[in-house]
Amino acid sequence: MMKLLSTLSIAVLLVACSGSGSQQQEKATESGELNVYSNRHYDADRILYEKFTEQTGVKINLVKAGADELISRLEIEGDKSPADVLITVDAMKLNRAKEKGLLQPVEAKTNNPPKFIEEENYWYAIAYRARVIAYDKEDVDVSELSTYEDLANEKWAGKILIRSSGSSYNQSLLSSIIHANGEEKAKEWAAGIVKNMARDPKGGDRDQIKAIASGVGEVAIVNTYYVGLLLNSENEEEVKAGQKVGIYFPNQEGRGGHINIGGIGVTKTAPNKENAIKFIEFLTNDENQKFYASNSFEYPVNQNVSPDSTIASWGEFKIDNLDYAKKTDLNEQAVRIFEEVGWN
Ligand code: FE2
Repeated sequence: MMKLLSTLSIAVLLVACSGSGSQQQEKATESGELNVYSNRHYDADRILYEKFTEQTGVKINLVKAGADELISRLEIEGDKSPADVLITVDAMKLNRAKEKGLLQPVEAKTNNPPKFIEEENYWYAIAYRARVIAYDKEDVDVSELSTYEDLANEKWAGKILIRSSGSSYNQSLLSSIIHANGEEKAKEWAAGIVKNMARDPKGGDRDQIKAIASGVGEVAIVNTYYVGLLLNSENEEEVKAGQKVGIYFPNQEGRGGHINIGGIGVTKTAPNKENAIKFIEFLTNDENQKFYASNSFEYPVNQNVSPDSTIASWGEFKIDNLDYAKKTDLNEQAVRIFEEVGWN
């Protein structure tokens, strides 16, 4: 219902300014401005966008919303869309946009290894983050940790912290578990996690770590960059919370740890394809990948660039392959399972 409502409200918005779509597109082409649809929410992005404008003179107009909303918006706008690029924090969403015919393949010069470029060049990764286990260093013996699957074991009853199922990070993680173990096992896993939760899901990933620091729960599933942000925060309490936890990369004996890819694709009807490609090359170049590494604490995708020292101190890890992200219907299955097991 919510989805329908938001689609409707976009439709209404478009009707209200009907006729302006193609004018907007023409205007964008003439001025060379770049229209960016993004669901990333980091200061680092904003700073880099300003830098891009300084260096190239190309103004960036940013539309921020959830990935699903942005994809619906592109669908509704059709070939009159003013958007040049779509940026999401999840490869699955970019693949969905590709399947829906909303993106076009482009040749951009990057130092991304092949695994960080879509097979047919429909999108390029700009950064990634691992979804890891953060554990209370005082209360958890690291030898107790092994896999995501193991966290559903009753030995963790009352100890697990994780955000709500509405998060695309969790939907993506569960999709990878469905892909690895099948739907039934994945459902058992989700039910086990719900049973083991220290509290009903609330807040973002940082809040799960803060909860560990204040004695609620012992083990959290979080993205690495949030730990980096806590440890490098100006707020002393946040630094202390970050220092309370150790980082564990799960499933290292098996398929590897889950990652989320932030990536960018050029829209099919991009009014400024050339600038869009320049923008991809800009975001993935050595200098700006270093900037991402030390400001958003993500892993760089450019193979010439190393992660920030905080992140690097946790060591290297085996990454689960991204095959699950090509099966975009797994996301729907994941959402259904979350609902069925009552993961709020
Ligand atoms: Fe995030």
